[in-house]
Amino acid sequence: MYLSHNASLVTTHVLQEMKNKGEKIAMLTAYDYTMAKILDQSNIDIILVGDSASNVMAGHKTTLPITLDEMIMYGSAVVRAVSHAMVVVDMPFGTYQGNSKIALESAIRIMKETGANAVKLEGGREIIESVERILCTGIPVMGHLGLTPQSINKFGTYVVRARDEYEANKLREDAVLLQEKGVFSIVLEKIPAALATEVSQSLRIPTIGIGAGHGCDGQVLVLQDMLGLSNDFSPRFLRRYNNLYTSIKDSVHAYINDVKEVTFPNESEQY
Ligand code: KIV
Repeated sequence: MYLSHNASLVTTHVLQEMKNKGEKIAMLTAYDYTMAKILDQSNIDIILVGDSASNVMAGHKTTLPITLDEMIMYGSAVVRAVSHAMVVVDMPFGTYQGNSKIALESAIRIMKETGANAVKLEGGREIIESVERILCTGIPVMGHLGLTPQSINKFGTYVVRARDEYEANKLREDAVLLQEKGVFSIVLEKIPAALATEVSQSLRIPTIGIGAGHGCDGQVLVLQDMLGLSNDFSPRFLRRYNNLYTSIKDSVHAYINDVKEVTFPNESEQY
């Protein structure tokens, strides 16, 4: 029996115990009530209401356009479905970077209006004042280092980060700084597996990897990607557990056919 399945609620304390005992943490994204309910009833440890909603739910090219109000709408729908998993909501671009007072106000709105358990922020020392101020109020914070999609315009590309020593050292320092300030976990996105393993082993708190190899303390994927709901995003790190794109398309074709051929509804499907 897994530690996290025994707990009625997955808390920061449970996640730390999992790291201490070597049990891996499973996290997936969700943005709506129906999917979140399936994930929760499948015993997922953490549901991330990621700002990837900007891409997969709203169709934007980047995560930058999504607003705080939209994240709160997605977050509260997810929270209404969940009774076991920890729910973490991403703080969207522009709500925490410039000013720690605004960051705190944004985090408080997320916690009050969604009922989520924690917030996630991208970055290291550049945003450390915001992280500290949010933590001071007792709101749990998850960090996010490596490929941080809110900085895509600075990076100019979605390639693997921290391949060179300068960026790798900055990531090591940022991870320690975030841990010392009190974040409960850090997402490591698209960095070399050896670096992710080293950082995960050197930290007390759990790391959650995406495209960062199996040395992290847990893994996260975007739900729509791992379910194969679209075919147009195929990074090397993505394992598809289903092909819902084809399955849904087949169902829709069958329905259209039944309607056109007047085989739906039949006698037993009407009043
Ligand atoms: O927004 C998101 O889905 C994320 C994960 C990819 C970690 O931040």
